[in-house]
Amino acid sequence: MHFQQNKAVHSEGQEMLLAQELYLKAVLTDTLALFGGLTVVFCLLKFTWKCWCGLRQFVLSEHWQQDLRTYGQWADLPEWFLLARRGLDVVLVGRSDVKLQMVAKEIRNEYGRKTHTIQVDFTEGGGIYSSIAKELQGLQIGILVNNVGMTCTDHFAYFLETPDAEQKITQIINCNIKQTIQNVFYIFICLGKGLIINISSEAGVRPHPLLALYSATKIFVTYFSQCLHAEYKSMGITVQCVAPLMVSTNMTQNMQVNCLVKSAAGFAYKAVNTIGHSSYTSGCLSHALQSAALSLLLPDWLRMSTFFVRVLRNVPNIRTYQRAESEEKEWSSAKKK
Ligand SMILES: NC(=O)c1ccc[n+]([C@@H]2O[C@H](COP(=O)([O-])OP(=O)(O)OC[C@H]3O[C@@H](n4cnc5c(N)ncnc54)[C@H](OP(=O)(O)O)[C@@H]3O)[C@@H](O)[C@H]2O)c1
Repeated sequence: MHFQQNKAVHSEGQEMLLAQELYLKAVLTDTLALFGGLTVVFCLLKFTWKCWCGLRQFVLSEHWQQDLRTYGQWADLPEWFLLARRGLDVVLVGRSDVKLQMVAKEIRNEYGRKTHTIQVDFTEGGGIYSSIAKELQGLQIGILVNNVGMTCTDHFAYFLETPDAEQKITQIINCNIKQTIQNVFYIFICLGKGLIINISSEAGVRPHPLLALYSATKIFVTYFSQCLHAEYKSMGITVQCVAPLMVSTNMTQNMQVNCLVKSAAGFAYKAVNTIGHSSYTSGCLSHALQSAALSLLLPDWLRMSTFFVRVLRNVPNIRTYQRAESEEKEWSSAKKK
């Protein structure tokens, strides 16, 4: 009798334990399901938000173009033609006076906008900025585009392979860093309210071996722009950072335009449309997609590996590549004949 009672108590206890265990399991399963559900919802919301930002920045921006004249009447530095077309007077800054005068004449004739030219070489550094500021006095500058930039070499090279290293390093720092800071500093005084566009690069998004100095100067431009934007947006000054990939210009030996490489005019058109829609942009949809693909397909561990650096070092420079390609074409057409 006593034994049977004990057995009943024992099985009751076991049942309770089992029930407790089942209850805990159910709670755990529910919690995990809830957590999983929330994660999925969060990821979906994040993905939808990113898609919306991309759509707004690169597609809808073509129709919702911001009235750039709200920033001020004058724009300083390139995208000259585009800014003139959008109703702004333009200050042109560059090294060659002949080229500046030619562009100025075209802008006046084609768009009926006023122009002002300043001949300057930003590699010089030093006192050029106070003279630029003097030239700009009295102009209501509304947009500043910091576009000037240079690389060490026209191909992937080790830092110590930089030709005329000492001089080149100073020039690059003057052109890519000092120019950005000083222009911003002097023009800020005129701006009060306005827009600064700093051109960085995909090379400034992640470290790029064999472009060491260029990459480092561009991450400077990126961070500088983002910090300034955070500091001054509430005071009416917008700082936009544009980080493109490949654009066919003098810097890239006017390489062939294709689905990956944009033409300068095509890129500038798309990039100007993003004004007012994003403070940090790749400039166009193709470059934004390429940037996302690169971060997935070329993760840091691979890009920074000695193996990859060696492979990259052996990539021929664009000029050699184009020459080889045209020789190849000539050779195959000669064979056909
Ligand atoms: N091209 C690309 O694939 C690419 C990719 C990513 C980022 N970026 C960035 O985009 C910006 C523009 O590059 P880009 O390819 O258009 O270069 P670019 O063709 O060499 O030059 C762009 C402009 O800068 C002026 N400039 C160059 N050096 C100058 C100097 N020392 N002093 C005064 N003006 C100078 C040029 O005027 P003059 O030569 O007529 O004097 C030209 O109007 C740069 O900041 C570059 O780092 C370019």
